[in-house]
Order: sequence, then C-alpha cells, then structure tokens
Amino acid sequence: MEGPRRLLAHELPALGKLVDNVFMNGTDGAMNRAFSTLFNAANTDNLIVFSDDGRIVSHVGRTERWVSLGGCTVRVGCVGAVATDDAYRGQGLASKLLFQACAEGMAAGVDLFMISGGRGLYRRAGATEVGLDYRATVELAAARDLVLASVAIRPFEDGDLPIWMAAYQQKLAHYVRPSEDWECAVQTRICQTFDADFLTITNAGVPCGYVVCRVSEEDWLCHIMEYAGDARLVAAALAQVAERHDAHALRLVIPGTDPILFAYLERAGIALEPVHSSGTLLIVNFQQLIDRLRPWFATRAGLDAAERLDVQRDGDRFVFICGDASVELENLAAATEFLFGHHERNRPSGVFAKMFPAPTLRYGLSFI
Ligand SMILES: CC(C)(COP(=O)(O)OP(=O)(O)OC[C@H]1O[C@@H](n2cnc3c(N)ncnc32)[C@H](O)[C@@H]1OP(=O)(O)O)[C@@H](O)C(=O)NCCC(=O)NCCS
Repeated sequence: MEGPRRLLAHELPALGKLVDNVFMNGTDGAMNRAFSTLFNAANTDNLIVFSDDGRIVSHVGRTERWVSLGGCTVRVGCVGAVATDDAYRGQGLASKLLFQACAEGMAAGVDLFMISGGRGLYRRAGATEVGLDYRATVELAAARDLVLASVAIRPFEDGDLPIWMAAYQQKLAHYVRPSEDWECAVQTRICQTFDADFLTITNAGVPCGYVVCRVSEEDWLCHIMEYAGDARLVAAALAQVAERHDAHALRLVIPGTDPILFAYLERAGIALEPVHSSGTLLIVNFQQLIDRLRPWFATRAGLDAAERLDVQRDGDRFVFICGDASVELENLAAATEFLFGHHERNRPSGVFAKMFPAPTLRYGLSFI
C-alpha cells in the first residue's frame, strides 16, 4: 500500500475507475463528466490517494477556490468524491487522507473546507453544519401571485454569460469562479451531477438574472439549484419556471445572506423552513480565517470591535474574546457554529451577535 500521496496525472483513469464504481454503478467516465473541474490534470495535486499494486483504492479530492464572504476573500477547499474501494474499507484510509488533505490545504493557504457530506469521518475532524438558510416550497398558485408582466425567462444563450457572471458576483456570499468553472457549467449543463435547465431571466427584454433548475423524480418538484439577480425579478420568474417544467411547485433555498428574497416570499405567505448551508464546514486555519474576515466584522460591529476580536485555542477549546466579552466553546465544531451560525446551537449574544454569523455559501454550480 502506498500513500497518503498526491495522484499522478497518468493515474486519472485508475482514479476514475474507483469513483465510477463507488458513485456511478461503474458507468465509465461518469464522475469525470460530472466533476470535470475536480478530475483533471491541472488539479491532481489536490487529489490525495492510497494505491495498492497499481490500483487507486482510496481517495479524498478537493478543488481550491477563492470565495467572497461579505466582501472578504477567503480560500476554500471544496472536498468531495471521497471513496474507498469496498475491500479496503474500515482500515482508516479515508480518515488518513482527510488528515493529509487538511495539512496540505493549510500549507497552501486554505482557510476552510466545504465538504459534501456529514458522516463521522468528517465530524471526527471537526466538521459541522452551519448557516441560517431557509427552504421554501412555492406552490404554482403562490408563484403566480408574484408575477410581473415585464419579466420572462428563456434558455441560456452564449452571449448571456457576462450577465450571469455579473448577477452572481452581486451575491453577498459567492465563489470567485474562474472562467473555466463557468464555461464548464454552461457547456455541460450539469449542476450537482444532474442535467439541469439553464434559464436567463429578462426584464422588459433585457437579461438581468438567471435560474438553474431541474425536476426531481423523487418529488416531482422543480428544484432551483442556483439563482441570481434582483430578488423581486427572481420571484417574478418562478411561476414561468414551474410552468415550463409542468411542476405544481418549486423548491428553493434562500440563503441567510439574501434577506430581500426571503422577505418577498415571507410576505407572500410562503412557508420557510430553517435549513443549514451546503455541506459541512471544516476550518483548517482558524486564525487566518478570522483575520481574513475582519472587514466583515467591522461592517457589523465597528472597526474597534473587529480589531479587538481575538480567538485563542486551549487544547480542544476555543475562546472568543472581544474587549470585556468572552465566550468559550468546547471544540472546533462548536466554534465553527458560533462563527458561521447554527439554527439551534451556539448562538452568539452581545457584541458577538453583532459580528456573527459570518456569511455562508451554497454550492450551486460549484458543487464538488
Ligand atoms: C465513506 C468511505 C469513504 C469511508 O472510507 P474508509 O476508508 O472505510 O474510512 P475510515 O476507515 O477512515 O472510516 C470508516 C469507518 O470506520 C470507523 N472509524 C474510523 N476511524 C474511527 C475513529 N477514530 N473512531 C471511531 N470510528 C472510526 C467509523 O465507523 C467510520 O465510518 P463513519 O465515517 O461513518 O464514522 C467509504 O465507506 C466509501 O467509499 N463509502 C461510499 C461512498 C461515500 O459514501 N462517500 C462519502 C460521501 S460523503
């Protein structure tokens, strides 16, 4: 057995075999198609593996991207396609790979991992759900109440990409997507491993936003996987999106960072159910993350408080200090929930309630 080590470019087909077997019933090349930003020669340094006799038997992969959280640029490792060959499970291989990925990510300047899963493997390392998002189920009749005569939808056209990029970048929390990520998404029309419908929203004929959606065969609802644009115009487009897919209702998650769409839907009487943001978060460099988020803390609680915020680590415990105020959290997961928000646990008070939660992300087209 060899590892943990980085994948070599010529081993991409061998890795493909492992992940296609584990996730895609052995359909050759399916994972590569669904995750082409992850499984490509330029990203092999971020694919950590064990091999045995020429076969890849365990894998923890990530892409590394900048994200903007409330205007602060933070480095995120998006971890996914975590797999161990059946015959090698339960020997601690994936745990060792995750540990190695954390060390290498930290050395490369990563602040946190966003992981598409929540099993013990990740939780033992300190990953947890965070974020104060809300899931809306919008019946077609309710969506029709939000219609505006000037708003329409049409399939994505090549010339729309700059509008999509501009609309997306206006979100309070967003990936700073390299053009390759956008091009890959609009060429494959795959979102979160599913074939998806890419629709441009127009207002008086002018492109101004978009939705990416699919109808799920599990519930026959039209799921909006990513949207961007002025909240009122997005709300006005929902009925046409549902009608286009013969769906009686839509499902979408309103991030905690989008209080305007939240308010329109709430005012329309639509039920909003608390959910967390995408995946689980594992902070790999707490101190650096706090420093990178200081401009956000300043917008929320003032320059003085943002400068005085200090986080000290004492064994497993984290102590947040700001002037006279201090709060102790029992471990990394609790500290992460305190910082990024959790619907039930570790809610901040006093000066910390002003600063936190820091904005959280939804995967959308950047799912790994
Ligand atoms: C998930 C998967 C990658 C784990 O691979 P692995 O090499 O067997 O992982 P490990 O040996 O490190 O851990 C396996 C189990 O051993 C036990 N274990 C390992 N280390 C442990 C520890 N320190 N303490 C307690 N239990 C431990 C746990 O039960 C763990 O399962 P958990 O993640 O549900 O808690 C593998 O089962 C797999 O490929 N599953 C199918 C694909 C999948 O679900 N991927 C994850 C998507 S989120």
